[in-house]
Amino acid sequence: MLIVDDLTLHYGQSQILHGLSLTAEAGKVSAVMGTNGVGKTSLLKAIAGRHPYSGGTITLDGKPLDHPTAFQAARAGIAYVPQGREIFPLMTVQENLEAGFACLDRTERGVPEHIFELFPILKEFLNRRGGDLSGGQQQQLAIARALITRPRVLLLDEPTEGIQPNIIQQIGRVIAQLRDQGEMAIVLVEQYFDFTWGLADSFTAVTRGEVSLSGKAGEIDREALLSKVSI
Ligand SMILES: Nc1ncnc2c1ncn2[C@@H]1O[C@H](COP(=O)(O)OP(=O)(O)O)[C@@H](O)[C@H]1O
Ligand SMILES: [Mg+2]
Repeated sequence: MLIVDDLTLHYGQSQILHGLSLTAEAGKVSAVMGTNGVGKTSLLKAIAGRHPYSGGTITLDGKPLDHPTAFQAARAGIAYVPQGREIFPLMTVQENLEAGFACLDRTERGVPEHIFELFPILKEFLNRRGGDLSGGQQQQLAIARALITRPRVLLLDEPTEGIQPNIIQQIGRVIAQLRDQGEMAIVLVEQYFDFTWGLADSFTAVTRGEVSLSGKAGEIDREALLSKVSI
C-alpha cells in the first residue's frame, strides 16, 4: 500500500502541490483526475523520485520513502510510465525493455514471459526500433518496460493520451488484468473520463494542487466528479 500524505512540491519559487494526500492499495486502480496543469504529473514525479518534494511524506508498505532518487524509488518497487511514453526511439523494443534492468540485480535481469502474454505485439516486434512503433504500440512498450522490475506500485501518466480507440480498450484490459493479479497498486492519472470511470476503484480529483473530491467507485457521485475534472 502506498500512502502519500500532505505532499507539497515547488518548481523554484512556485508552489504546485499544496498538501496533497492519496492512498493506493494493492489490487486496486486508484485514479487521479484533473484538468491540465493542476499538478498530476508533478505528483507522480515526486512519488517516482523524479522531482523533489518540499513537504509531506510518502510511505510504501509501512516504510517511509525519504526523498528517494529515481533509482531508489525503482528499487523500492515503484515503476513509472511517463506522460508521452519516453520510448528510446533509436533503440529496439528488446533494448527498450532491457533499459528496465538498470535497477535490478544481475540475477534478476530477464524479461518475464507474462509481459509478452499481455502485449503479444512486442514479441513480434522485438527487433524493431522504438521510434518506428505506432503511438499505441509505444504505450504498450512503456508499460511493459515498467513491468520489468515486477513493481509493487505502477504509476501511469495519461496512458490513453493520443492513442487510437481500439488500443485504448486493449490498454484498459491490461490495466484490469494487472489489478486482478492483486499484487500491484496502480495509480492511474487520466483525463479521459469514461475510460477512467469504467476502470478505477477509487477517484481523487485534483484542483490547483489540492484534492477537491475523493471517493470509492460505487460511493462517489459521477456528476460531482465530472464537474471537478472538466474545464
Ligand atoms: N519543470 C517545470 N518547471 C516549472 N514549472 C513546471 C515544470 N513542470 C510543470 N510545471 C508547472 O507546474 C504545474 C503543474 O504541472 P503538471 O504537474 O505537469 O500538471 P498536469 O500533469 O496536471 O497537467 C503547471 O503550471 C506547469 O506549468
Ligand atoms: Mg501531466
